[in-house]
Amino acid sequence: MGLSRREAPVPPLLHQRRVREGEDAAGAAQGQGRRAPSAPGRGRAGRRAAAEMGPRVRLRALQRPGKPRPAQGVYIPCDERTGAVAKAPNLPKLEGHFGSLADVHGLFDTNAKPIAFPVPQVISANRTAWRTDEEFARQTLAGTNPLSIELVTGLPLTSKLDRALYGDQDSKITKEHIEKNLGNMTVAQAIEKDRLYVVDHHDWVMPYLKRINELPGDEEKGEISERKSYATRTLFFLQDDSTLKPLAIELSSPHPEDERLGATSTVYTPPDQLKAGEAASDTFTAWDLAKAHAASNDACKNNYVLHWLRTHATMEPVVIAANRQLSVLHPIHKLLKPHFRNTLDTNSTARHIVIGSGDERQGGAFYRNMHEVNFFTGKYGMEMSSKAYASFNFTELAFPNELIKRGVARGDPKKAEELELLIKDYPYAVDGLEIWTAIKEWVTDYCAIYYAEGDGAVAGDSELQAWWSEVRNVGHGDLSDAPWWPAMDSVGDLVETCATIIWLGSAYHSAVSFGQYAYNGFVPNRPTVTSGEMPAGAGAAVTEAEFLGHITPKNEAFGLMALTMSPPVKPGEPLMGERPDTARWTSEQRAAKALLEFNAKLDAVAEAVKKRNADGALRNRNGPVEVPYTLLAPRADPAVPHVGGIPNSIAV
Ligand SMILES: [Fe+2]
Repeated sequence: MGLSRREAPVPPLLHQRRVREGEDAAGAAQGQGRRAPSAPGRGRAGRRAAAEMGPRVRLRALQRPGKPRPAQGVYIPCDERTGAVAKAPNLPKLEGHFGSLADVHGLFDTNAKPIAFPVPQVISANRTAWRTDEEFARQTLAGTNPLSIELVTGLPLTSKLDRALYGDQDSKITKEHIEKNLGNMTVAQAIEKDRLYVVDHHDWVMPYLKRINELPGDEEKGEISERKSYATRTLFFLQDDSTLKPLAIELSSPHPEDERLGATSTVYTPPDQLKAGEAASDTFTAWDLAKAHAASNDACKNNYVLHWLRTHATMEPVVIAANRQLSVLHPIHKLLKPHFRNTLDTNSTARHIVIGSGDERQGGAFYRNMHEVNFFTGKYGMEMSSKAYASFNFTELAFPNELIKRGVARGDPKKAEELELLIKDYPYAVDGLEIWTAIKEWVTDYCAIYYAEGDGAVAGDSELQAWWSEVRNVGHGDLSDAPWWPAMDSVGDLVETCATIIWLGSAYHSAVSFGQYAYNGFVPNRPTVTSGEMPAGAGAAVTEAEFLGHITPKNEAFGLMALTMSPPVKPGEPLMGERPDTARWTSEQRAAKALLEFNAKLDAVAEAVKKRNADGALRNRNGPVEVPYTLLAPRADPAVPHVGGIPNSIAV
């Protein structure tokens, strides 16, 4: 991207965090960073109570169970509150790393103190399969981040970072590193046959890596652990049975003398001697550590960009503008309102105790949110999220567009049901396309009722136009000139826009969020913090204790696990398509009928997901760890506690 900190567009969330007493919080929350008209009663900054407390005192107060809800950064009107307020967990301060895998497993002992954590799904059926290469690769298709994998169209992989600032950041993975594991194919043939894929987090991490690896600084000493991370690229080979095989992991650091001199990179490949079953032993190698670094990059990107930025933060202006510009009787307000439930409230709490960092430093006081401690990005996480907003593209988040952009699907994005998936057994994509199709048909049917006169009815709907104008020009004001915004002058634009909002608020959010404890809850599988220099040589032996000494320490593990251990779908949470007040939701019989049809389609998707999960030929559905892919199962399954269904909205 090559943007300096000053040049980077600021996502709505960072504007909100600029709010000070006397400013208009609603206007700031919508992203313009200046005063704007606000809805009556909305948006007063209220940081004083927190700001008057010392940093340690504040953190302890927030973590004390039963304590009244802390003062929020932004006033949330009562009609946006649901009472479902997340509390920061009460945790002891722990020192050091886990000494053995047995220590980690001890956390799940029913008598464990101070918390007996539930067994994460990733080790619930098989305690050791998480270590296999097949499972590591499968989680890129069916784990808690199934949307960073992209088709490779040529080697070397290149960087988009500004060479004047960062030098040569292109990948150093060559055909010599990978050709031995391509069966009988050459690299050229593998590329031609769409068999090479990559998860590339290099450009997102590298500009911050020097600063991250200097943590903790004076202000964090004693509060966060030492960081030593790398920017990672992971290359995969698509096999005939649709499983992926990791081929190489590149770990890169800034040049030790000067960042402008380019990256220092090492390429790790699977040890030749690794045989089936060897992963069950207590022998680790540098390859295992490389996988841990790759997983750590992936977990942080998922947390700050794919989850927080793309759902919570960028949805917020859509919610606020809808409340300000659309009458509660407006058909689009009625269509979307269920998908906004609890989002503002959740975001406010999240900023206050979970994900934010930085603003109160300006006053000389420190307030350390949980993710700042629990993820390797430390205090830079929010800035990295902001930087990623520069490439935010609402139109590309329509599900078929998102798949096509990554090169994993081909075809007409308007005909989702006909898209060709290049990875046939891609659980997130297969389930997601069925859900997207159901959403699109529902929104199409619904809009046809109220915009029967066609495009002119959309263009001439003053409330609708005011809503979309505010989303684009105020809420997302820093990106208002982007060419990709829907013009909102046709029924097609309206349908695509509403379908995308519903998708992001429901299924997408479930896919990137609800698997956190299942996969991150066992930190050796998916650490969020890394430390220590990599050993020289890809096949270098590493003891179990050394491996654990490189990944998430006890304190960060507890914080991360405690935050995500509860089932993500709360009892009574309305699931996708549900209207708890159906009788009052609409008196328009055609709309009620279309809603019934939408629900019937989602019921059918839920059954199809179950069937696919039971199909042993689809190896990526369960994988070596034997965890069925249920993150896009639309309906709860009373027989399986962790299958809670997909809620309507971003409510956690
Ligand atoms: Fe969330």
